[in-house]
This record gives sequence, C-alpha cells and structure tokens, in this order.
Amino acid sequence: ANPRTYQRATETATHIRSALPETLQNPKVAIVCGSGLGGLADTIEAEPKVELAYGDIPNFPRSTVQGHAGKFVFGLIGPQRLPVALLVGRAHFYEGHSMDLVTFATRVCKVLGIETMVVTNAAGGLNQDYAVGDIVCLNDHLNLPGMVGINPLRGPNVEEWGVRFPPLSDAYDLDLRRRAHRAWRKLGLDKQKRRIHEGVYAFVVGPTYETRAECRMLRTLGADVVGMSTVPEIVIARHSGMRVLAFSLVTNIAVLEAGPRGDDEAIQAMSKSELHVHLSKGKATHEEVLESGREAAKDVQALIKQVLSDYSQD
Ligand code: 6GU
Repeated sequence: ANPRTYQRATETATHIRSALPETLQNPKVAIVCGSGLGGLADTIEAEPKVELAYGDIPNFPRSTVQGHAGKFVFGLIGPQRLPVALLVGRAHFYEGHSMDLVTFATRVCKVLGIETMVVTNAAGGLNQDYAVGDIVCLNDHLNLPGMVGINPLRGPNVEEWGVRFPPLSDAYDLDLRRRAHRAWRKLGLDKQKRRIHEGVYAFVVGPTYETRAECRMLRTLGADVVGMSTVPEIVIARHSGMRVLAFSLVTNIAVLEAGPRGDDEAIQAMSKSELHVHLSKGKATHEEVLESGREAAKDVQALIKQVLSDYSQD
C-alpha cells in the first residue's frame, strides 16, 4: 500500500465526520451494497440521514460507469436505531483504478471506527446445485489476481493498519456466519424456494465474463461463485482487524459443459437457425436475471437487518 494512503484516509474521514450530526458520528458497522443491493439505503430511517456522493468526497475514486457514481449513506437502521454507514456502489479494479483506490473506502471505514464490514455483491454461480436468485454466505475466497501480484497489500507495509503477513484462514467470521443462517430461519426464509448456501468466492479482474473453459477451471479450483469485487475490500478489512460478513447474490448460473465443436458431424449438419437455438440453450435471459435479482435483493436486505438487530441486542 502507498504510505500516503493512511494520511489520505484520515483526511477523508475527518471531512466525512464534519458532515455528520452527533448521532451518526460513531457507526460500528458498514455495509457495502453491490449491484442491485442499494435498496438497503431506502430502508433506513429518514431522519437523521446524511448522504455524501462519492464525487464530493475528497480522495475518493472517480466512478467510470455512468449512472453508477455511488454514495456514502449514514443513518439509523432497524428498531434499535443502530448507526450504520452504507456504501452504495463501489470502485472496481477493472475500471482501471489502482488497488489503493479500489480499497480506499474500506480504509476510510477503518479510520471512522467501523468494526464490522458486511459486504455484498452480484456473482455468477459455478456450483451447479445453486439456482439464480440464491444467496451465498461466503466462507472463503480464491484471490486469483492477488496470488500472482495484484494484491492490495503489495508494497511497503504500513504498521498503523496491520501486520506484514496477515493470516486470512479465518477471514469470514464464523460467529457472523452462524448468525446469518439463524437470522435466515428466524425470518422464515428457509420456508421458501430461495436457498442460502455457504461457498467460496473466486475473484477475477474482469471486465470480461468467463469462458466455459474458465468456468470449469474455477470450479475445479474449488470456487462456488465468481465475481469482480469484494476480495480486495476483505483483504484490507482483515488486515486492519475488522470483522467480515459477505454475501453473493447469484445472478446467473455458469454453463460448465464445453461448447459445441465445429468439427462435430451433428453440428456440421445444423442450419444457421438450428445452431442459434443450440447456442442459446442454458443462457438465462437478462430480464429473468434482473427480476430474480430484485426479489432476492429484498431477502438479502431483510437478512442483513435481522443479523444486525440480533447482534446489537446480544
Ligand atoms: Cl458469471 N462472472 C463474473 N466474473 N462476475 C459476475 C458474473 C459472472 N455474474 C455476475 N457478476
């Protein structure tokens, strides 16, 4: 990490705190809302509530995706009126940002006094037991870019954040995962079609989606879901001792079978329209994915609120 990141994050945290009323100044929990999961921001109390557009926060990365600028939302959540920080939208490495910028918001959370990060994302399902709309509580990850050099902690270690060689064997907090499954049952969500799993998230840079062969490779390596975010944030959160709970919303199921072979006799004999039908088999429609995402997002939101509500009472 860049040694100046510590100073920059402190600067940014000071700026943010000066914009917050007394009652919102000390959130202990931050929630990163991934694609389609920003609805959580609409379920927190109207007053007091402070929204800060990322574009207006010093040192924050400039979003490169139109209409996805993102914002920090500070407010009170649930019946206990628990102060929280919501991060609606995030910077991705595929946008061209450095790992320092991708993880800057996580650093700022640490300086603001956040102790627990709840991180969500939309991901592709590799585990063929999963269905579109299912939820995966992450219990481990494959940091593929990290293992070959694109790790947010590469470079001089800044002791103010944490140790040089942080362990990640316990990155996904067991107590929080148990709470998530308990909350799922408490809400009666186990009595519906949608299921919750525990699984391994493979981080890839993107922006291309995986080929069929790459999906098979990731499955062989032990991944249950694949996506383009979350892992850098979790590495930084764990380095500085924050607890982590992470969920993936499965938006599509990867096709693991090899594609049709051009030299296959049956394929050779097919007409253009027959080939078209053949190739689109197993592909979810964009509409289906969006719709299941909307419904599933509501359950993820309810789940997170229940976990936090139980958590604040124990
Ligand atoms: Cl299939 N792959 C990746 N890398 N990210 C995704 C995804 C797939 N679906 C949603 N996000």
